[in-house]
Amino acid sequence: MIPLIDIRYVRLGTQDLAANRHFATEIVGLEVVDETPSTVYVRGDNRDHNICYFKGDPSDHTTAFEIEREADYEAAERELADAGIEIVQGTAEGRSERRVEAYFTFADPSGNKIDLVYRPHFNPEPFMPSRKVGIEEFSHVGLKTTDAARDEKFWTQRFNMRVNDWIGPAPLMSFDQVHHRLALFPTDQPGVQHINFQVDGIDSIMRSWYYLQERQVQIRFGPGRHPSSSAMFLYFEGPDKIIYEYSHGVRLVTPDTWRPRQFPFDNKSFCFWGATPQIDEFVE
Ligand SMILES: [Fe+2]
Repeated sequence: MIPLIDIRYVRLGTQDLAANRHFATEIVGLEVVDETPSTVYVRGDNRDHNICYFKGDPSDHTTAFEIEREADYEAAERELADAGIEIVQGTAEGRSERRVEAYFTFADPSGNKIDLVYRPHFNPEPFMPSRKVGIEEFSHVGLKTTDAARDEKFWTQRFNMRVNDWIGPAPLMSFDQVHHRLALFPTDQPGVQHINFQVDGIDSIMRSWYYLQERQVQIRFGPGRHPSSSAMFLYFEGPDKIIYEYSHGVRLVTPDTWRPRQFPFDNKSFCFWGATPQIDEFVE
Protein backbone atom coordinates (compact mmCIF):
# COMPACT_ATOMS: atom_id res chain seq x y z
CA MET A 1 0.00 0.00 0.00
CA ILE A 2 1.63 3.22 -1.16
CA PRO A 3 0.89 6.08 1.27
CA LEU A 4 0.08 9.36 -0.48
CA ILE A 5 -0.10 12.48 1.67
CA ASP A 6 -0.85 15.25 -0.79
CA ILE A 7 -1.66 16.30 -4.32
CA ARG A 8 1.05 18.63 -5.66
CA TYR A 9 0.69 19.83 -9.23
CA VAL A 10 -0.53 19.21 -12.72
CA ARG A 11 1.62 19.65 -15.81
CA LEU A 12 -0.27 20.61 -18.96
CA GLY A 13 1.19 20.69 -22.46
CA THR A 14 0.01 23.51 -24.70
CA GLN A 15 0.71 25.08 -28.08
CA ASP A 16 -0.31 28.47 -26.68
CA LEU A 17 1.57 29.35 -23.50
CA ALA A 18 0.56 33.01 -23.70
CA ALA A 19 -3.17 32.19 -23.77
CA ASN A 20 -2.80 29.91 -20.76
CA ARG A 21 -0.72 32.46 -18.88
CA HIS A 22 -3.33 35.12 -19.55
CA PHE A 23 -6.24 32.90 -18.52
CA ALA A 24 -4.50 31.56 -15.38
CA THR A 25 -3.77 35.07 -14.14
CA GLU A 26 -6.51 37.37 -15.47
CA ILE A 27 -9.34 34.86 -15.17
CA VAL A 28 -8.48 32.09 -12.69
CA GLY A 29 -6.66 34.55 -10.41
CA LEU A 30 -3.45 32.56 -9.93
CA GLU A 31 0.05 33.97 -9.37
CA VAL A 32 2.89 33.44 -11.83
CA VAL A 33 5.82 32.13 -9.77
CA ASP A 34 8.24 31.50 -12.60
CA GLU A 35 8.41 31.32 -16.35
CA THR A 36 10.82 30.46 -19.13
CA PRO A 37 10.33 30.62 -22.91
CA SER A 38 8.79 27.14 -22.73
CA THR A 39 7.07 27.04 -19.30
CA VAL A 40 4.77 29.05 -17.03
CA TYR A 41 4.38 28.08 -13.35
CA VAL A 42 1.35 29.32 -11.41
CA ARG A 43 0.04 28.79 -7.91
CA GLY A 44 -2.85 29.57 -5.57
CA ASP A 45 -1.25 28.44 -2.29
CA ASN A 46 2.10 27.69 -0.63
CA ARG A 47 3.03 24.78 -2.84
CA ASP A 48 5.88 25.83 -5.15
CA HIS A 49 3.37 25.72 -7.99
CA ASN A 50 0.02 24.10 -8.69
CA ILE A 51 0.10 24.13 -12.48
CA CYS A 52 3.02 24.07 -14.91
CA TYR A 53 2.01 24.88 -18.47
CA PHE A 54 4.71 23.77 -20.88
CA LYS A 55 5.16 23.99 -24.66
CA GLY A 56 4.09 20.61 -25.95
CA ASP A 57 1.22 18.34 -26.85
CA PRO A 58 -2.07 19.67 -25.39
CA SER A 59 -3.08 16.10 -24.55
CA ASP A 60 0.09 15.58 -22.47
CA HIS A 61 -1.13 15.87 -18.86
CA THR A 62 0.60 14.74 -15.66
CA THR A 63 -0.74 14.79 -12.10
CA ALA A 64 1.60 14.61 -9.09
CA PHE A 65 1.06 13.10 -5.66
CA GLU A 66 3.45 13.31 -2.73
CA ILE A 67 4.94 10.58 -0.56
CA GLU A 68 6.27 11.79 2.79
CA ARG A 69 8.94 9.28 3.77
CA GLU A 70 11.97 8.24 1.76
CA ALA A 71 11.52 4.56 2.62
CA ASP A 72 7.92 4.68 1.39
CA TYR A 73 9.02 6.47 -1.77
CA GLU A 74 11.62 3.79 -2.49
CA ALA A 75 9.18 0.99 -1.64
CA ALA A 76 6.59 2.54 -3.98
CA GLU A 77 8.99 2.41 -6.87
CA ARG A 78 9.74 -1.26 -6.18
CA GLU A 79 6.10 -2.19 -5.67
CA LEU A 80 4.94 -0.65 -8.94
CA ALA A 81 7.88 -2.08 -10.88
CA ASP A 82 7.25 -5.54 -9.37
CA ALA A 83 3.64 -5.28 -10.53
CA GLY A 84 4.92 -4.83 -14.08
CA ILE A 85 4.17 -1.12 -14.26
CA GLU A 86 6.67 0.80 -16.33
CA ILE A 87 8.52 3.36 -14.23
CA VAL A 88 10.27 6.33 -15.82
CA GLN A 89 13.03 7.45 -13.48
CA GLY A 90 13.34 11.12 -12.65
CA THR A 91 16.28 13.06 -14.04
CA ALA A 92 18.18 16.03 -12.65
CA GLU A 93 16.54 18.22 -15.29
CA GLY A 94 13.11 16.80 -14.43
CA ARG A 95 13.63 17.43 -10.69
CA SER A 96 14.58 20.99 -11.38
CA GLU A 97 11.55 21.46 -13.68
CA ARG A 98 9.21 19.95 -11.07
CA ARG A 99 10.79 21.68 -8.03
CA VAL A 100 11.10 18.41 -6.12
CA GLU A 101 13.97 16.50 -4.52
CA ALA A 102 12.95 13.20 -6.14
CA TYR A 103 10.26 11.85 -8.46
CA PHE A 104 9.41 9.10 -10.86
CA THR A 105 6.64 8.80 -13.42
CA PHE A 106 4.26 6.00 -14.34
CA ALA A 107 0.84 5.69 -15.96
CA ASP A 108 -2.42 4.45 -14.43
CA PRO A 109 -4.26 1.73 -16.39
CA SER A 110 -6.09 4.36 -18.48
CA GLY A 111 -2.77 5.97 -19.39
CA ASN A 112 -2.94 9.00 -17.09
CA LYS A 113 0.63 10.10 -16.38
CA ILE A 114 1.35 10.31 -12.67
CA ASP A 115 4.42 11.73 -10.90
CA LEU A 116 5.10 10.41 -7.42
CA VAL A 117 7.21 13.06 -5.71
CA TYR A 118 9.34 13.22 -2.59
CA ARG A 119 10.11 16.52 -0.83
CA PRO A 120 8.36 18.87 -3.26
CA HIS A 121 9.34 22.48 -2.71
CA PHE A 122 7.38 24.78 -0.42
CA ASN A 123 7.06 28.47 -1.24
CA PRO A 124 7.13 30.48 2.00
CA GLU A 125 5.98 33.74 0.42
CA PRO A 126 2.28 34.52 0.76
CA PHE A 127 0.24 33.68 -2.33
CA MET A 128 -0.50 36.91 -4.17
CA PRO A 129 -3.68 36.45 -6.21
CA SER A 130 -3.76 38.35 -9.47
CA ARG A 131 -7.36 39.43 -8.75
CA LYS A 132 -9.68 39.37 -5.71
CA VAL A 133 -10.49 35.71 -6.20
CA GLY A 134 -10.42 34.24 -2.68
CA ILE A 135 -8.47 31.11 -3.65
CA GLU A 136 -7.26 29.18 -0.60
CA GLU A 137 -5.71 26.09 -2.13
CA PHE A 138 -5.33 23.65 -4.96
CA SER A 139 -7.42 20.77 -3.64
CA HIS A 140 -8.25 18.01 -6.14
CA VAL A 141 -8.27 16.83 -9.72
CA GLY A 142 -10.68 14.85 -11.84
CA LEU A 143 -9.00 12.42 -14.20
CA LYS A 144 -10.54 10.74 -17.21
CA THR A 145 -10.77 6.97 -17.16
CA THR A 146 -11.47 4.40 -19.85
CA ASP A 147 -12.62 1.88 -17.21
CA ALA A 148 -13.69 3.32 -13.87
CA ALA A 149 -13.98 -0.01 -12.02
CA ARG A 150 -10.53 -1.13 -13.14
CA ASP A 151 -8.89 2.19 -12.27
CA GLU A 152 -10.71 2.41 -8.94
CA LYS A 153 -9.18 -0.95 -8.05
CA PHE A 154 -5.75 0.27 -9.15
CA TRP A 155 -5.92 3.36 -6.94
CA THR A 156 -7.54 1.75 -3.91
CA GLN A 157 -5.52 -1.48 -3.89
CA ARG A 158 -2.07 -0.06 -4.65
CA PHE A 159 -2.48 3.29 -2.86
CA ASN A 160 -4.09 4.51 0.36
CA MET A 161 -7.05 5.87 -1.61
CA ARG A 162 -10.57 5.21 -0.27
CA VAL A 163 -13.78 5.71 -2.19
CA ASN A 164 -15.94 8.18 -0.25
CA ASP A 165 -18.87 8.19 -2.70
CA TRP A 166 -19.71 7.08 -6.23
CA ILE A 167 -21.75 8.96 -8.82
CA GLY A 168 -22.73 6.18 -11.18
CA PRO A 169 -19.45 4.42 -11.99
CA ALA A 170 -17.34 7.46 -11.03
CA PRO A 171 -15.43 7.05 -7.73
CA LEU A 172 -14.70 10.13 -5.58
CA MET A 173 -11.57 9.12 -3.68
CA SER A 174 -9.24 10.46 -1.03
CA PHE A 175 -6.16 9.63 1.01
CA ASP A 176 -7.01 12.11 3.80
CA GLN A 177 -10.08 13.71 5.41
CA VAL A 178 -11.01 15.85 2.42
CA HIS A 179 -13.98 14.16 0.71
CA HIS A 180 -12.14 13.79 -2.59
CA ARG A 181 -8.64 14.45 -3.83
CA LEU A 182 -9.01 12.38 -6.99
CA ALA A 183 -12.17 11.56 -8.94
CA LEU A 184 -12.32 9.36 -12.03
CA PHE A 185 -14.81 10.09 -14.81
CA PRO A 186 -15.44 7.59 -17.60
CA THR A 187 -14.74 8.57 -21.20
CA ASP A 188 -12.70 7.18 -24.08
CA GLN A 189 -9.27 8.64 -23.33
CA PRO A 190 -6.99 9.64 -20.42
CA GLY A 191 -6.35 13.23 -19.34
CA VAL A 192 -7.07 15.82 -16.69
CA GLN A 193 -10.87 16.20 -16.50
CA HIS A 194 -10.91 19.22 -14.15
CA ILE A 195 -8.65 21.14 -11.77
CA ASN A 196 -10.10 22.34 -8.46
CA PHE A 197 -9.25 25.35 -6.34
CA GLN A 198 -10.96 25.90 -3.01
CA VAL A 199 -12.13 29.46 -2.38
CA ASP A 200 -13.03 31.18 0.87
CA GLY A 201 -16.81 31.23 0.58
CA ILE A 202 -19.91 31.45 -1.57
CA ASP A 203 -19.31 35.18 -2.01
CA SER A 204 -16.10 34.42 -3.90
CA ILE A 205 -17.90 31.85 -6.06
CA MET A 206 -20.67 34.29 -6.94
CA ARG A 207 -18.29 37.22 -7.47
CA SER A 208 -16.28 35.02 -9.89
CA TRP A 209 -19.47 33.92 -11.63
CA TYR A 210 -20.25 37.52 -12.55
CA TYR A 211 -16.59 38.32 -13.29
CA LEU A 212 -16.28 35.36 -15.66
CA GLN A 213 -19.56 36.05 -17.41
CA GLU A 214 -18.57 39.68 -18.05
CA ARG A 215 -15.45 38.37 -19.78
CA GLN A 216 -17.33 35.79 -21.87
CA VAL A 217 -15.66 32.84 -20.18
CA GLN A 218 -17.51 29.58 -20.90
CA ILE A 219 -19.31 28.61 -17.68
CA ARG A 220 -19.67 24.83 -17.84
CA PHE A 221 -21.56 24.06 -14.62
CA GLY A 222 -22.98 26.05 -11.77
CA PRO A 223 -23.10 27.89 -9.56
CA GLY A 224 -24.36 24.81 -7.76
CA ARG A 225 -23.87 22.46 -4.87
CA HIS A 226 -22.64 18.87 -4.93
CA PRO A 227 -24.73 16.56 -2.73
CA SER A 228 -21.74 14.19 -2.37
CA SER A 229 -19.07 16.50 -0.98
CA SER A 230 -21.59 19.25 -0.05
CA ALA A 231 -19.27 21.77 -1.76
CA MET A 232 -20.70 24.76 -3.63
CA PHE A 233 -19.07 25.02 -7.03
CA LEU A 234 -18.51 26.81 -10.33
CA TYR A 235 -16.86 25.10 -13.33
CA PHE A 236 -15.54 27.00 -16.34
CA GLU A 237 -13.44 26.33 -19.40
CA GLY A 238 -10.02 27.71 -20.28
CA PRO A 239 -7.65 27.33 -23.23
CA ASP A 240 -7.09 23.78 -24.53
CA LYS A 241 -10.57 22.93 -23.16
CA ILE A 242 -9.18 22.60 -19.62
CA ILE A 243 -11.98 22.76 -17.05
CA TYR A 244 -11.27 24.71 -13.85
CA GLU A 245 -13.42 24.60 -10.73
CA TYR A 246 -13.82 26.90 -7.77
CA SER A 247 -15.49 25.30 -4.78
CA HIS A 248 -16.14 25.94 -1.15
CA GLY A 249 -17.33 23.84 1.76
CA VAL A 250 -15.97 20.42 0.84
CA ARG A 251 -16.98 17.84 3.42
CA LEU A 252 -14.34 16.42 5.74
CA VAL A 253 -14.87 12.74 6.43
CA THR A 254 -13.62 10.53 9.24
CA PRO A 255 -12.25 7.57 7.31
CA ASP A 256 -13.07 4.96 9.99
CA THR A 257 -16.73 5.88 10.29
CA TRP A 258 -17.66 7.35 6.90
CA ARG A 259 -19.75 5.06 4.72
CA PRO A 260 -19.53 5.68 0.97
CA ARG A 261 -22.81 6.24 -0.84
CA GLN A 262 -23.83 5.28 -4.34
CA PHE A 263 -25.44 8.21 -6.16
CA PRO A 264 -27.26 7.52 -9.44
CA PHE A 265 -25.63 9.06 -12.50
CA ASP A 266 -27.96 11.99 -13.08
CA ASN A 267 -27.94 15.77 -12.86
CA LYS A 268 -29.18 15.98 -9.28
CA SER A 269 -26.32 13.74 -8.10
CA PHE A 270 -23.93 16.39 -9.41
CA CYS A 271 -26.01 19.39 -8.26
CA PHE A 272 -28.99 19.43 -5.95
CA TRP A 273 -29.68 23.11 -6.57
CA GLY A 274 -30.71 22.18 -10.11
CA ALA A 275 -27.79 23.33 -12.30
CA THR A 276 -27.32 21.31 -15.50
CA PRO A 277 -23.74 20.28 -16.29
CA GLN A 278 -22.28 21.18 -19.67
CA ILE A 279 -19.28 18.94 -19.13
CA ASP A 280 -19.29 15.77 -21.25
CA GLU A 281 -18.12 13.45 -18.45
CA PHE A 282 -20.89 14.64 -16.10
CA VAL A 283 -23.67 13.95 -18.59
CA GLU A 284 -25.13 10.47 -18.92
FE1 LIG B 1 -14.33 18.94 -8.47
